[in-house]
Amino acid sequence: MNKGFDLTGQRVLITGAGGTLGGATARACAAMGGDLVLVDLKAPQALADELAAAGATVRAHALDSTDAAAVDALVAGLGTLDALADVAGIYAGGDWLAGGEGWDALLDRTMDVNVKGPVNLMRAVLPRMMKQGWGRIALTTSLAGRNAGTTLATEPAYVASKGALQALVRYFARQSAAHGVVVNAVAPGPINTPMTRASGQPFDFDRLPTRRFGEPAEIGWPMAFLCSQGCTYMTGVVIDVNGGQHFS
Ligand SMILES: NC(=O)c1ccc[n+]([C@@H]2O[C@H](COP(=O)([O-])OP(=O)(O)OC[C@H]3O[C@@H](n4cnc5c(N)ncnc54)[C@H](O)[C@@H]3O)[C@@H](O)[C@H]2O)c1
Repeated sequence: MNKGFDLTGQRVLITGAGGTLGGATARACAAMGGDLVLVDLKAPQALADELAAAGATVRAHALDSTDAAAVDALVAGLGTLDALADVAGIYAGGDWLAGGEGWDALLDRTMDVNVKGPVNLMRAVLPRMMKQGWGRIALTTSLAGRNAGTTLATEPAYVASKGALQALVRYFARQSAAHGVVVNAVAPGPINTPMTRASGQPFDFDRLPTRRFGEPAEIGWPMAFLCSQGCTYMTGVVIDVNGGQHFS
């Protein structure tokens, strides 16, 4: 049964919660009543304290999602788990035409964090959710995975990693749909975050339909919806949250 946009009594694991969009996702999930487990490379304790002070049930742990054994151990120790919002990710610039060790290492690292990290999480989370017959999973891809990004300067390692993750959304959805688990994603366009500003890309606001960046909460709320009990007959979907920037 569809219980609406509510997370009361639902335990939600949120990766990248120390970052901007993970933090926004945590805030939205807390507002919807979720019981939150926040993880990042360093435990996002300040955010956990802030949300707990506002009445949320929340705890924070350190987790490197590229470390499969650490992911397995954390998930095994959680008790119940109803939803996963996987927001961890990296974007780093490099000169792919020059190639060489520097860029090859960047490609490996980007694929490791942005593809292997989610795969590690799915391996730990999917079987137990399928066994319990319930699970909501929200991954974070990118506009770059659909159309190679907002500008010509978008880094190809990032494009490849988010395109791969986008393909995997449908794969995981197909594996788990018969078992009460839905797997979807949000594909953000350019959002007003340090990651966007640090990318060094020359954004031309006249080419953005909304003439502005999105704000972090505009990603947090759709992510929280995908984790909620209101997300039912919907799986394998990547929601574009990009201010209408579909084609350029
Ligand atoms: N900012 C944007 O405009 C934008 C656009 C499209 C997609 N995205 C995606 O949204 C997600 C969040 O972006 P953001 O802007 O909040 O970036 P951010 O850098 O603020 O947050 C990312 C978080 O992921 C964590 N992280 C990195 N490697 C990790 C690892 N191995 N294990 C666990 N955690 C790790 C970082 O510590 C950081 O806190 C990323 O997946 C990013 O690719 C962002």
